Amino acid sequence: MKLDRCLKFLVITVVALTIPHMAQAEEILIKFSHVVAQQTPKGQAAEYFKKLAEERTAGRVKVEVYPNSQLFKDKEEMEALQMGSVQMLAPSLAKFGPLGLKEFEAFDLPFIFDDFDDLHKVTQGPVGVKLLKKLETKGLIGLGYWDNGFKVMSANKPIRNVEDFKGLKMRIQSSKVLDSEMRSVGAIPQVMAFSEVYQALQTGVVDGTENPPSNLYTQKMHEVQKYVTVSRHGYLGYAVLVNKKFWQGLPDDIRTTLEGCMKEATDFANSIAKEDNAKALAAVKDSGRSEIITLTPEERAAWRKAMNKAHLDNMSRIGADIVKEIYAETGYKP
Ligand code: LMR
Repeated sequence: MKLDRCLKFLVITVVALTIPHMAQAEEILIKFSHVVAQQTPKGQAAEYFKKLAEERTAGRVKVEVYPNSQLFKDKEEMEALQMGSVQMLAPSLAKFGPLGLKEFEAFDLPFIFDDFDDLHKVTQGPVGVKLLKKLETKGLIGLGYWDNGFKVMSANKPIRNVEDFKGLKMRIQSSKVLDSEMRSVGAIPQVMAFSEVYQALQTGVVDGTENPPSNLYTQKMHEVQKYVTVSRHGYLGYAVLVNKKFWQGLPDDIRTTLEGCMKEATDFANSIAKEDNAKALAAVKDSGRSEIITLTPEERAAWRKAMNKAHLDNMSRIGADIVKEIYAETGYKP
């Protein structure tokens, strides 16, 4: 009798200690942090990845998406990924320089891509693969490129001619190429986290900025900028990053499933980006808050000529080989 009770106690104890451990071992948490709104192409693709990942792993993987810099701002999110405080990010390609990966700033070169077809020759071709490989030296893995779109320029005064930039304080991302781009037209660039841009525009800390319409609209920047120039002078897009140690430490079946989900989320992101930006631009127009300026081909050509300086000044910084490989794909002539 006494032995019976002892055995029962032992069984209950073993079960009680084992079940929570089994449950813990089963669930894998992926925190996916980003800085833009949920309705942007990146925000929607992150949610799509979450849905696929949770469904296809039958709950073994849980994805928590934190939009709008809720968890980390630009610079902090990179550090958090390297330290393992988050597992997945999709930073703009303009933010890889501070990691020591200056090659990614090739994507910021003004006018280097005429359109998405040009861009995809790079992101979906050998140069894109080669660039993602470089992330491994920083303890990261690049799972794919997600599109946003081509940038507009906004300010409280109309920007049509190169001379209109003179003396304007323009917020940029942390890219030396964007710094050169703004200086090439006489503006004064100021690096600032995305989460701070709206307020900086509102209070006049900076005069203007550049971003694709989806970001401008969802952050309500058009409400504090009187003019938006549709210049398509440069591209903004993302690489989805994971911490290498985390990713390689996943059970093989889970990693394979997640890779499949990421492939579909990437196709999804890249299928909605163009239309989302067109809709955002139309919404900015409809809001009546900013006047939309469309450049004539001659005006655009003058921007291109002036901004070519950013190519010349950054060629060796980025790496002439990479830049020339991209020129070969897109046909850009410096
Ligand atoms: C910006 O800082 O302007 C963009 O990189 C934000 C983003 O992630 O699209």
